[in-house]
Amino acid sequence: MTAPLDLFPITARIDRGGRLWLGGCLARDLAREFGTPLYVYDAETLLARAREARSALDAYPGPHRLAYAGKAFLCLGLAQILQREGLDLDVTSAGEMAVARAAGFPPERVHLHGNSKNVAELTAALEWGIGTIVVDNLHELRLLGQLTAGRQAPQRVWLRVAPGIDVHTHPHRKTGLLDSKFGLTLETGEAAAALEQAQRMAGLQVTGLHAHIGSQVFEPEPFARATGLLLDLAASVGFTPQELSPGGGWGTATGPAELDLPLAAYGEAIARTAVERCTRHGFPLPTLVIELGRAIVGPAGVALYRVGSRKEIPGVRTYLALDGGMGDNIRPALYGARYTALAADRASAPPEEIVTLAGRYCESGDIIARDVPLPRLQPEDLIAVPRAGAYCLAMSSNYNLVPRPAVVIVRDGKVLSLQRRETAPDLLARDLPLPPDWDQ
Ligand SMILES: Cc1ncc(COP(=O)(O)O)c(C=O)c1O
Repeated sequence: MTAPLDLFPITARIDRGGRLWLGGCLARDLAREFGTPLYVYDAETLLARAREARSALDAYPGPHRLAYAGKAFLCLGLAQILQREGLDLDVTSAGEMAVARAAGFPPERVHLHGNSKNVAELTAALEWGIGTIVVDNLHELRLLGQLTAGRQAPQRVWLRVAPGIDVHTHPHRKTGLLDSKFGLTLETGEAAAALEQAQRMAGLQVTGLHAHIGSQVFEPEPFARATGLLLDLAASVGFTPQELSPGGGWGTATGPAELDLPLAAYGEAIARTAVERCTRHGFPLPTLVIELGRAIVGPAGVALYRVGSRKEIPGVRTYLALDGGMGDNIRPALYGARYTALAADRASAPPEEIVTLAGRYCESGDIIARDVPLPRLQPEDLIAVPRAGAYCLAMSSNYNLVPRPAVVIVRDGKVLSLQRRETAPDLLARDLPLPPDWDQ
C-alpha cells in the first residue's frame, strides 16, 4: 500500500492549516490564479525521476541511454527541460516531432516510433535527419526502402519486435503478444525475415532491435526476458546489434493499491540478462536504450479540480462531481486506472465519508477516482489528484467541447505557465461557417 501523500511530488507539504503546497506554491493560490482543472508539474520531482531513470542502468557495464517517451505528455517547455537534461526523445507523430524540433532536440537524439507512420511523416523524419526510425512492420520497411534508395548516408533504423511475452497489466496495455498490432512477430519468423531483409537494403543501416511489451508492468522479469529474446533473435540471423532497446512501460503507481519499484530494479534485471546473453552469443555489449514515459512524468504531475455538485444515493454511493474528468484524464475509463485524491485545503482533516469523484462529461464511465475517503466537501472546494502527470493531458480531448486545462510548472515557490487554458475561440478555430447561399 502506498500512503496518499507518498503519491504526491517530493516537494508536496501539508501546512498546519491542512493546506497543500506543491513546489513551494500553495495549491489554492495556483487554482485561483490559473483556474481549474489545472495540471501542476513539480520541477524537482521531474528532474529527480529523470535522474533516477538515467541511472537505472548503471549496473550495466556497457553504454546506455535514456529516452523520454513523449507520448506520456509533451509540450514545448517540458521538452526543453528534458532536452537540457540530456535525454533522448521518443516521438510517435509529426506533431511530436515538431515539438522536438521547436524544443531544440538535436535530430540524432530523436527516435521515431509508430505502427502506422505515413509517407509524409517518414519523409519529414528523413529530411530532418532523425537519429533512428523504429520500423514496426513490413509495409513500413518497404516504404522506407523506397524513400531512402540512393541516399548518400543510410538511415539508421531499429526493428520493433513483438516477442510474444505476456505481462500482468490491462489488456489494452499489452503490446508484445503474438496477437498484437505492434511490431514484427517473433514466433512466426516474421521478425527474423525482416531483419535479414532490412540488412540488405542499401538506404538503411540496421543498428538495433527494439521491443515494448506493455505498460504499467510492475515486475522487472518480463523486460529482462524481452532483452534476452532480442539478443537471441540477433544471434539467430548473425546480426550484431550496436543498440538494443527493451522499450519502457515500467510500472508507476497511480493509487494506493499500487507500489512503485525502484527504477534500478528494472535496470538491473535488464542489464544482467543483456550481459549474460551477449557473453553467450559473443556480442560486444550494445548501447542499451530505455524509453520511459510514465516513470518520469507520472509522479511529477498533480491535477487540481473544484468540487461541483453532490449526489447522495443512500446505501449505494455518494458522487462528488468535479469540473474536469475524462476530457483531461481518460485513464480510469480506458484502463480502469485507479487514482486517489486529497482535499487540497483540508488535507489534515479526518475522513468523514467515502465518495466517488465523478467527471463532468456525459459518460457514466467518466469517473476520476472511486471510493476515496475525504472530509465532507462543499461546492468550490479544491481536490488534488496525484500521479496525474502521464497519459492524462496526452490523451485529452475536447469532448463536450470543454476547453483543455492549463498546465503550470512549480519550483522553489515560483510558478511558470507551460500551456494556457484553451478558450472558446480555440475550440472554434478550425470551424468554417456555412456560405450565405448554402440553402438557396
Ligand atoms: C514504443 C514505446 N516505448 C515506450 C513507451 C513508454 O511507456 P511508459 O510510459 O509506460 O514508460 C511506450 C508507451 O506506450 C511505447 O509505445
